[in-house]
Amino acid sequence: MHPMLNIAIRAARSAGSVIARAFENTDKVSVESKGSNDIVTNIDLEAEQIIIDTLLKSYPEHSIVSEERGVIEGTNPDYQWIIDPLDGTSNFVKGIPHFAVSIALKVKGKLDQAVIYDPIRGELFTASRGNGAQLNSLRVRVQAHKEVAGTILATGFPFKQKASTDAYLEMFKTLFLKTADIRRAGCASLDLAYVAAGRVDGFWELGLKPWDTAAGELMVIEAGGLVTDLMGGHNHSKSGNIVAGSPRLLKEILTDIRPHLTPAMKL
Ligand code: IPD
Ligand code: CA
Ligand code: CA
Repeated sequence: MHPMLNIAIRAARSAGSVIARAFENTDKVSVESKGSNDIVTNIDLEAEQIIIDTLLKSYPEHSIVSEERGVIEGTNPDYQWIIDPLDGTSNFVKGIPHFAVSIALKVKGKLDQAVIYDPIRGELFTASRGNGAQLNSLRVRVQAHKEVAGTILATGFPFKQKASTDAYLEMFKTLFLKTADIRRAGCASLDLAYVAAGRVDGFWELGLKPWDTAAGELMVIEAGGLVTDLMGGHNHSKSGNIVAGSPRLLKEILTDIRPHLTPAMKL
């Protein structure tokens, strides 16, 4: 195993233990609002600190981009960790056992290592560039669906940017009428990990952040899928608008949603 993946797994497991313990004892969880429909808890911050300390202990020269702490510049700009210490905070706060720790490493701007850890189920999704994607060390593959008909897609609602509701609902309607069903589970990193593991066939969401998607993107690619923006390009880490699935499925999803894109979504 790549040594940097090993350290990322150690960080994700340590953070995951703190999160799982707090989930059992919610008296110790305090919630604060950090924006419109956007919350953070003391556990997000505690988990984040553990991850940052673990990574910087082994790699003090690396850079970090983390949801709550922001950017920590390292002396070696070639290595950048992208961290969501607790993806699915709303689920966590509501007592819904579906959230994850998400950690990705970019080397010279390219996704290189990824870990998504679900501390409730004990499921560890990993990926290394060129070495495939695994769930608890067993190889996973994206479902090779050729068409949207009969699939189960995952999605997220644009609850932080409600101005996109109409466009989103048009996309939803077009896809929903063709699919077998659609899931909205509330944790984007696990949505992408589940695409990689073939548990859902594809995924799309608007307005995500790099820490929501970086690890999941490598996971899907290493599992034989594709990840693009809403136009089929590679602007998703900037726009936050993302589509994932097998190459054939993704192509059809893009064709289906295209008529509903606002001008801003085409950038
Ligand atoms: C959120 C979750 C959710 C997605 C949101 C994300 P957070 O992350 O991934 O599924 O719909 O857009 O912001 O805030 O819980 O880390
Ligand atoms: Ca997130
Ligand atoms: Ca988060």
